Amino acid sequence: VSDLVVASHRGPYTVTFDERPFAGLERPGGPRVHAIVDRRVAALYPAELAPVLATPSTLCLEASEASKSLDRFPAYVQHLVGAGVRRGHVLVGIGGGVIQDITAFLAATLLRGLDWEFYPTTLLAQADSCIGSKSSINVGRLKNVLGTFTPPRAIHIATAVLGTLRDVDLRSGLGEILKAHAIAGPAAFDEIAADYTRLRAERVLMIRYLRRSLVIKQAIVETDEFDRGPRRVMNYGHSFGHAIESVTGFAVPHGIAVTIGMDLANHVAVRLGLAQAAHYARMHPTLAANYAGWEPAGLSVDALLAVLGTDKKNGDGALGLVLPDAEGRVAYALHPNDARLRAACAEYLAGLGDVDMGAGVGA
Ligand SMILES: NC(=O)c1ccc[n+]([C@@H]2O[C@H](COP(=O)([O-])OP(=O)(O)OC[C@H]3O[C@@H](n4cnc5c(N)ncnc54)[C@H](O)[C@@H]3O)[C@@H](O)[C@H]2O)c1
Ligand SMILES: [Zn+2]
Repeated sequence: VSDLVVASHRGPYTVTFDERPFAGLERPGGPRVHAIVDRRVAALYPAELAPVLATPSTLCLEASEASKSLDRFPAYVQHLVGAGVRRGHVLVGIGGGVIQDITAFLAATLLRGLDWEFYPTTLLAQADSCIGSKSSINVGRLKNVLGTFTPPRAIHIATAVLGTLRDVDLRSGLGEILKAHAIAGPAAFDEIAADYTRLRAERVLMIRYLRRSLVIKQAIVETDEFDRGPRRVMNYGHSFGHAIESVTGFAVPHGIAVTIGMDLANHVAVRLGLAQAAHYARMHPTLAANYAGWEPAGLSVDALLAVLGTDKKNGDGALGLVLPDAEGRVAYALHPNDARLRAACAEYLAGLGDVDMGAGVGA
C-alpha cells in the first residue's frame, strides 16, 4: 500500500503503511522520544511494545473520554516533565482517537510545542482522525471544547493491529469510512455499500476503503485545514451524532453515533424538502446495518435538540447542519431551529424514518 504525503501549515507529513506493528519506534541517535500509550494496546502487544513499556517516561492511559479531560492534564505534564521531557524531544501517541487527542494537545502546548508522531491502532484513527491536524480535549461535560491545529511529524499505520479490535470499535471506524465515501458522492457510497458485508472478513478490501477514506479527507483538509469553509462537510452526521453521544452519556461510540447521525440527517433533509426520499432509502440499509443494536428509537427529541443548539458549527440563532441535497451531495448551511426540524427529528426518533420513507428500501 503506497504512502500518502499530506500538506499542512507546518509542512508535509507522511502516512506510511507498514505490515509490522509499531515498526520504527526505536531510532537510535534521534531525539529522545516519549510515548503515550493506550493501556489496552499495551496489554495486547507486550512483545512489540516492550522497549516502550520499559521506558520510565512512557504514559500508559485508559482510552476514555475522562482521560482526555482537562483536569487530567496536570498529572500528565508533571509525569512527562518529571521524566525528563525537554524542548526538542518528540512525543509519540500509540492508540486510537483518544490517545491522539491527548498526544496532539500536549505536543501543541508542552514547553510551547513539541513534535509528535502517531501510531493509530483503531480503524477510526487509521481511516479518519489521524490526518487533519485537529486535537481536542474535554472540559467537564463539554466535549472537544478545547483544541488546536497540530499536525504530526509522521503517521505509521499497521492494519494488522485491527485484528484485535472489538466488533463495536470496528463498526465505529466503518461509520467514518462510510461518511467519507458519502461525502465523495453517491457513486462512491454505493460502491462501499455493495462491499459492506464483506469488509470485516476481507482485509485487503478493508485496507482499500481505509486508504480511500484518507485520500478523500486529505483533499478536503488540504483545501481548508483550519475548518473555515469546505472542510465543514466532513461533519456530515456529526451534529446529530454528537447530540446522540451526549444525550446517551457517551454510551454510543463516536462512529456509530455518526452513522445514526447520517441517517437522521438524510431523513431531516427529505422532510425539509432538500433531498429526495430515494436518497434516504439508498443509504439507509447500510447505515442501519452499521448501527444495528444501537437504534436511537425512544431518545428524547427535546434533549437532542437542546444539545444540537450548542453545537460548535452553529451560527447565531440557527443550526449549522451538513445535509444532502437533491443530487445526494452534502453541503453545510444554516437552518432555522424550528417546528419543521423538530417534527422531522421526532418522527425519526419514534422509529418512523424507515416505515414512512422506506418504500423501495434495499433497491
Ligand atoms: N482529533 C480528531 O481529529 C478526532 C477525530 C475523530 C475522533 N476524535 C476523537 O477520537 C475518540 C474516538 O477515537 P477511537 O474510536 O479511536 O476510540 P478510542 O481511542 O477510545 O479507542 C476505542 C477502543 O479501542 C481500544 N483499542 C485501541 N486500539 C486497539 C487495538 N488495536 N486492539 C484492540 N483494542 C484497541 C481502546 O482501548 C478503546 O477501548 C473520541 O474521543 C473522538 O472525539 C478525534
Ligand atoms: Zn468523527
